[in-house]
Amino acid sequence: MSKVLIINGSVSPIASSFSAELSKKFLEEYTVLNPNDEIIHLDLNETEMAKIVLTRDNFSNFFNEKDALNYIKQLKEVDKVIMVAPMYNFNVSSLIKNYLDHILVANETFSYKYSKKGDAIGLLTNLKVQILTTQGAPYGWYMWGNHTEYLRGTWEFAGATVVEPILLAGTKTAPFNQMTPVDVVATISDQIKKAAKAF
Ligand SMILES: Cc1cc2nc3c(=O)[nH]c(=O)nc-3n(C[C@H](O)[C@H](O)[C@H](O)COP(=O)(O)O)c2cc1C
Repeated sequence: MSKVLIINGSVSPIASSFSAELSKKFLEEYTVLNPNDEIIHLDLNETEMAKIVLTRDNFSNFFNEKDALNYIKQLKEVDKVIMVAPMYNFNVSSLIKNYLDHILVANETFSYKYSKKGDAIGLLTNLKVQILTTQGAPYGWYMWGNHTEYLRGTWEFAGATVVEPILLAGTKTAPFNQMTPVDVVATISDQIKKAAKAF
């Protein structure tokens, strides 16, 4: 039995959210195959931590037990993470950035102590990560704003094994912008099934 933490970083209303539908379908497929796994939901919209931006004024208290260490502990206690992340202005949401700012802590989730060539060693080697991303533009319109690869690299930096992400691209262009999230996600149902099986 695995513990699976699903982290939602979309700010869209759930009823019209493509990423909510994508994560719902992924989870449905996953739980059919892994009925005894424990699923833990972390909606960053509902946490105070993910709304706190690191600034000069709060720097000394930012990495406190409640906002940083508890969430790091949670990552060390689970086996898998599903990160749900739409693109906002060529990047992840501020909620996700604030979450990552809280959990990427030297000697907690990564370390430079034992590295040989100045590279870091990730300490979250317990984690397998599935990234589920969406974006309004079709894939390839601006590769310099690739939030999917940013997340893959970040979790790998922290030592996690990242499986192939699912990117649902083009939610704001035709034909997807004339379809419901349910119908759009249905177009990649085979990919979702395959990924859920491999996860
Ligand atoms: C404030 C805002 C900024 C956005 N910026 C981008 C962007 O830079 N590139 C892009 O492709 N889509 C962008 N989008 C579109 C969203 O990525 C897309 O609508 C996504 O599907 C929304 O999240 P959801 O999947 O939870 O519905 C933006 C949407 C919003 C609301």
